[in-house]
Amino acid sequence: MALQDEISHRRTFAIISHPDAGKTTLTEKLLLYGGAIHVAGAVKSNKIRKTATSDWMEIEKQRGISVATSVMGFDYKDYKINILDTPGHQDFAEDTFRTLTAVDSVIIVIDAAKGVETQTRRLMQVCRMRKTPVMVFINKMDREGKDPFDLLDEIESELKINVTPLSWPINSGQRFKGVYNIFQHTLDLYTPDKTHITESVRYDDISSTEIDELVGNADADKLRSDLELITEVYPNFSISSGKNEGGKEETKGNVVTDIPPEVHDSEEGLQRYLAGDLAPVFFGSALNTFGVKELLECFVQIAPSPRPVQTDERIVRPEENAFSGFVFKIHANMDPNHRSCIAFVKICSGKFERNVYYRHIRLDQKMRFSAPTAFMAQRKETVDEAYAGDIVGLPDTGNFKIGDTLTSGETLHFKGLPSFSPEMFKYIENADPLRQKQIDKGINQLMDEGVAQLFVNQATGRKIIGTVGQLQFEVIQYRLEHEYQAKCRWEPISLYKACWIECDKENLSEAEKELDLFKKRKAQYLAFDKEGRDVFLADSAYLLQMAQQDYKNIRFHFTSEF
Ligand code: G4P
Repeated sequence: MALQDEISHRRTFAIISHPDAGKTTLTEKLLLYGGAIHVAGAVKSNKIRKTATSDWMEIEKQRGISVATSVMGFDYKDYKINILDTPGHQDFAEDTFRTLTAVDSVIIVIDAAKGVETQTRRLMQVCRMRKTPVMVFINKMDREGKDPFDLLDEIESELKINVTPLSWPINSGQRFKGVYNIFQHTLDLYTPDKTHITESVRYDDISSTEIDELVGNADADKLRSDLELITEVYPNFSISSGKNEGGKEETKGNVVTDIPPEVHDSEEGLQRYLAGDLAPVFFGSALNTFGVKELLECFVQIAPSPRPVQTDERIVRPEENAFSGFVFKIHANMDPNHRSCIAFVKICSGKFERNVYYRHIRLDQKMRFSAPTAFMAQRKETVDEAYAGDIVGLPDTGNFKIGDTLTSGETLHFKGLPSFSPEMFKYIENADPLRQKQIDKGINQLMDEGVAQLFVNQATGRKIIGTVGQLQFEVIQYRLEHEYQAKCRWEPISLYKACWIECDKENLSEAEKELDLFKKRKAQYLAFDKEGRDVFLADSAYLLQMAQQDYKNIRFHFTSEF
């Protein structure tokens, strides 16, 4: 297959949700359709992580929480689909944020009874920032849930994205009878089956009296009136050919969004989806494999293939012949005895080949990889080649950091892997003075891997670790002990936020003077991040607000990329 064909058949995406909404179950069902697994239950609830990834880190087994992000590839029809799994636990949200930089689209799973939950809200912020195309799957329709119109309103207001339903449920819970598939104009009747994929019965004509016979007059009438309302209220969504070919471009994060030169009325919905402005919504029950096929069918047709990516130097297009990619995840020390890591590389252009020399831009070193791995369902296998959109795992012994670029030779730096201001901070101290070297090395490597963020106080030189949640502190302590034979101690520090600071470019000379003054006055609140950038550690919202007021020419950023 030609490079362009390979690329246009790839779909790389992540499923995100609040824990327990059904992300694992949906992933499993998608793998079932792809033939990557054969019996439901093989992957159910954390099982993917338990079999495929959890041996990699002892702590996961102990806690039963997935600390890792893994990749599952499968083929469906002509498509090569890569699902990037994200950790369920909210303390690892930063890991999920980074994974979202490596996907071309996202499916959000929402529990029909619970609606939009906190974790989903936070993850959606990242999708919005990056204008990632989003589809929504409202799950657990076999249980009593909220009214579907209310759910749509909630998604629009809480996730700040427009929606359009592409399927519509007939009741929920005990009375759940199925969904009308607006996208394909068919009726799918609910036949719960927890172990096998079932083909649902299909009826094409919504005015057919057969529907009354099947679901009863009242429900058939309700369905017809709901559908009428939907047509009036929500944007039309239909597709013809050539959906992903665009003209003009807009850059958001590292992704360059295609905006077509001429939008056909009938495809406006699709274009809005691709621009991250409109989310098609499906209803179903992942556990009962209901509504999943419809979601997948629509997904492969409308979800974008790998898109052009912005680097500091230029826009990189997936169909370019020369290989380029970046590291978005490092999975370290899978076997503590061998100190091995896997660097996950998202291929952004061209073809990656085994045993071919590539340039590691930060180290300016040529490297080749004899055992790159691809990920098919729960298996990890050596690959000879992979294409833009794919993820390859490169065995590593400490050469890679998050954000590193590999290319066929050209100097490129991919953008869009920002650090976010952590939520919790602690001083980290060495608890075993004889093992200073080990703890330093451990802290450095864990930070390169993106486990947490390190800030060094500019006045005192003390090291501060910033995390998204308490669990990360425990992971660091555990891993320092087990992998680096080093002991750490935590000491409290009361901080509100870490802000990256820079001068307002419009008013540079004034701003530079202000920044000097600010740094002198606030010396005890200043730190360097891992890259040596200035960071202001505000100990309260009030202090931050005052600083913003008093130093109008300084910009305070909550992410490291601005
Ligand atoms: P997560 O990855 O988003 O955290 O959720 P997961 O798929 O593990 O699902 C969380 C729970 O919700 C699981 O039950 C799962 O079986 C259930 N579930 C998923 N989809 C549906 C659905 O469509 N209908 C209903 N009724 N339940 C659903 P559990 O009891 O926590 O785990 P398990 O013992 O079933 O593995």
